[in-house]
Amino acid sequence: MLDRYINLLKSGEVVAFPTETVYGLGADAKNPDAVKKVFEIKGRPSDNPLIVHISDKKQAKYFALEISDDAHKLMDAFWPGPLTLIFKKKPQVLDIITAGLDTVALRWPKHPLSQQLIALAGPVVAPSANSSGKPSPTKAEHVKEDFGDDFPVVDASETEIGLESTVLDISSEPYTIYRPGAVSADEITKIIGKEVIQDSGSSKDETAKSPGTKYSHYSPEAKVQWISSGDTTFVDEALYLLHSRPAPRKSDRVIHYEGNFNKMAHELYDRFRHADHQNLEFVFVEPFSSEQLQNPIVQALQNRITKAIG
Ligand code: TXA
Ligand code: MG
Repeated sequence: MLDRYINLLKSGEVVAFPTETVYGLGADAKNPDAVKKVFEIKGRPSDNPLIVHISDKKQAKYFALEISDDAHKLMDAFWPGPLTLIFKKKPQVLDIITAGLDTVALRWPKHPLSQQLIALAGPVVAPSANSSGKPSPTKAEHVKEDFGDDFPVVDASETEIGLESTVLDISSEPYTIYRPGAVSADEITKIIGKEVIQDSGSSKDETAKSPGTKYSHYSPEAKVQWISSGDTTFVDEALYLLHSRPAPRKSDRVIHYEGNFNKMAHELYDRFRHADHQNLEFVFVEPFSSEQLQNPIVQALQNRITKAIG
């Protein structure tokens, strides 16, 4: 089933494939022309570096200058899985991947199809498989929405987590989380016994350490807004995403997650896209309490929703 996609990757073409977080737009990480196509297809600014996806720990050695004891501990604890680690890079890593930085981001995804694909085609760069600025794809049909019906996608229905991986910079201390995801700061601290800083980049600063954080992201055409606490009116031309407060009425535009934040994360980007299919003007989201924000997936939701609000 994967043969066609493996051949495309080996011949320098771009292929979308599922991971446990979101679909990725893959290209051979050792072929500069193939990597260039990824930037072109996505319309991605060339100063925003890509994550290299690998399928075993050994492959990290080609890209990472040094793999510290902490790095080994983190890899053993969380790989394969939704944690991207940033290392100082080896000189042989293509500059186009790292956007000229002296670091490289590595991740070993958990989805069996991504593992097979990488094991047979070699390491691949893979940003989320959406046009730049659109919500990340969690279904093969989202990829086709952005890149056309004939675009090669390894179709494996819906991705499990629905939000992108945690990005952790371990290239210098103190270690910094640039993007919260399913793996939390607390879990990381438990493994290495060190505090980590959270810097998920509200700054639009040119010198942002993780360039991706300065671009607007994950946004549907509909305006995303938090529901203000006293607001009890529900308008028609909007989608409501609730998790705790009572729903005013049954409607397919009022979605209630009943405290199931994993489900909310799993569906968020699909709901955003669906709001646009229905030409809705707004997506209103119930804010999270500080207690709910103890949950790592709620932190990731808060980060993505805040970025979608812009
Ligand atoms: O879950 C994921 O990570 C998905 C799936 C496909 O694996 N991939 C993904 O890639 O979300 P992308 O390109 O959409 O987001 C990668 C983020 C960007 O914000 C980028 O700026 C940052 O990682 N990044 C990549 N390399 C970096 C580096 N060397 N230093 C700092 N940030 C880096
Ligand atoms: Mg992305």
